Amino acid sequence: MPPPSLCGKGKTMSKNFAVAIDGPSGAGKSTIARTCAQTLGFLYVDTGAIYRTVGLAALRRGLDSHDKGAVLAILPELNIELSHAADGLQHMMLDGEDVTAEIRRPEVSLAASAVSAYPEVRAFLMELQRSLARTHTVIMDGRDIGTVVLPDAPLKIFLTASAEARAKRRWKELKEKGREQPFEEVLREMELRDKNDSERAAAPLKAAEDAVLLDTTALDFQQSCEAVMKLIRERWTP
Ligand code: DC
Repeated sequence: MPPPSLCGKGKTMSKNFAVAIDGPSGAGKSTIARTCAQTLGFLYVDTGAIYRTVGLAALRRGLDSHDKGAVLAILPELNIELSHAADGLQHMMLDGEDVTAEIRRPEVSLAASAVSAYPEVRAFLMELQRSLARTHTVIMDGRDIGTVVLPDAPLKIFLTASAEARAKRRWKELKEKGREQPFEEVLREMELRDKNDSERAAAPLKAAEDAVLLDTTALDFQQSCEAVMKLIRERWTP
């Protein structure tokens, strides 16, 4: 089975510090993590994008993402690559095609949530995630980074916000991208994904015991970034 791979040049550091950021969808993990990573010169790793790429691959092959056997059967033929542009933006490649924009579609979100529940899919993507943290100073976000992928990360943050606040942010984001969707539908999908992600047997979404809990319901983007930067600066010595 060809392992998913990293291509392009990320910044390699001799002393690798890792920040694990977990939390439900729409909590602002990726934008906050990317901004902080850019400011500090860390490599930003969006692990949700990797699961989304597997979900997209299943959809493209016309599979029902809830058909575990069918999804597992395509893993050996998947060619998933991850690269970082100079501006720190993470790009996902599927079979040689840049699918960075396409994996944000709502149907891909649901497929990603379904395929990420399979332990075999998680195991398939584990080494890629760990190898990035071995070779780079990273801010990695996902659902199980502090609990499973990087249990020894020196800083773990569980970033959350109320479901309404998260759905509002996602609704606004979709609207700005010209993909308008009724708010109620966005909220329903958000709650469905929360349920899938936290009730699944394999690596369910939960805060690591030693994670710092950060609730951004009442914080704007700037304030959220400042809170994360403060935590990093308290624990990281350049
Ligand atoms: O963060 P996101 O919304 O892009 O993630 C897409 C899906 O992948 C989401 O339903 C949860 C899942 N996921 C996961 O199970 N583990 C991760 N480390 C990251 C994402």
